[in-house]
Amino acid sequence: MTSMKNLTSIAEYYKTDKHEHGYTKIYEKYFDSLRDKKLQILEIGIADGKSLLTWSDYFKNSTIIGIDIHKINLIEKNLDRTNIKVHQGSQSDENFIKEITNKYGNFDIIIDDGSHLRKDVIKSFHLLFPHLNNDGLYVVEDMQTSYNHFFGGNPFDLKYSNSHMNFFKHLTDRLNYQEIANPFYVANKYDAKITNISFYHNLVFVRKGVNDKLSKEVINHSYEDMKFSEKSSRTGNSFKYYLKYKIFYKIYTLVFLVFTMIKRILLFRF
Ligand SMILES: C[S@@+](CC[C@H](N)C(=O)[O-])C[C@H]1O[C@@H](n2cnc3c(N)ncnc32)[C@H](O)[C@@H]1O
Repeated sequence: MTSMKNLTSIAEYYKTDKHEHGYTKIYEKYFDSLRDKKLQILEIGIADGKSLLTWSDYFKNSTIIGIDIHKINLIEKNLDRTNIKVHQGSQSDENFIKEITNKYGNFDIIIDDGSHLRKDVIKSFHLLFPHLNNDGLYVVEDMQTSYNHFFGGNPFDLKYSNSHMNFFKHLTDRLNYQEIANPFYVANKYDAKITNISFYHNLVFVRKGVNDKLSKEVINHSYEDMKFSEKSSRTGNSFKYYLKYKIFYKIYTLVFLVFTMIKRILLFRF
């Protein structure tokens, strides 16, 4: 165990590449206030155990759970500490993740530093996000793999490919799900459950929390309904605003919707 003060110096001591990548300075901003708390922290990807040792020193009162597809020898890697737990299995194996969540319950911090393959990054997010506590953080490292086809990324279609970066970019729409003025809006399982998504160089942070404040601009995915009720109750002139918002603007919205659908079909964007 080290008695070093900050995360960067502990990471340097254990030689984890989280320091070289510049991640520890960013982590410190999020983790400084949590350091003495009793948390459950899950890291996907152990390798030599350098990051588990770093977390174990930094979060002295927490339990650090590491999972890896390969067998990890605790003694050989000096990981036989009371606050470190290690399990073998794949991050995208539903049964294995179920075993982990049955054993430990929810986590406060989840860090994905595993395979960095698109399919694994996205699948483990779907499997593990429900087991993150409110105000908890889900972090994905090495997002540069999203721009590399060897990891299932796509360097040629940055905007519309199904890469893991685009998965998280699209997740940002879930922050504003209530303001999406689409009368046929289909609810998404992440609506109301995310309060912040932050992107850094090769790093993404998603904060879980209750995000259910009603919008001042849109109700039930309808801009027109909001404007109609607001203006007609303010002026008492409901007929005029019925024509304007319930007839004219509704027709405009539907024409816009049809136009957008045709454009998507022609450009194969589903
Ligand atoms: C980048 S290393 C982890 C480094 C470690 N977190 C550190 O910072 O010191 C990636 C690890 O992920 C593991 N891995 C690869 N595919 C995996 C999967 N599908 N599920 C879980 N772990 C996986 C590899 O065996 C490897 O040990």
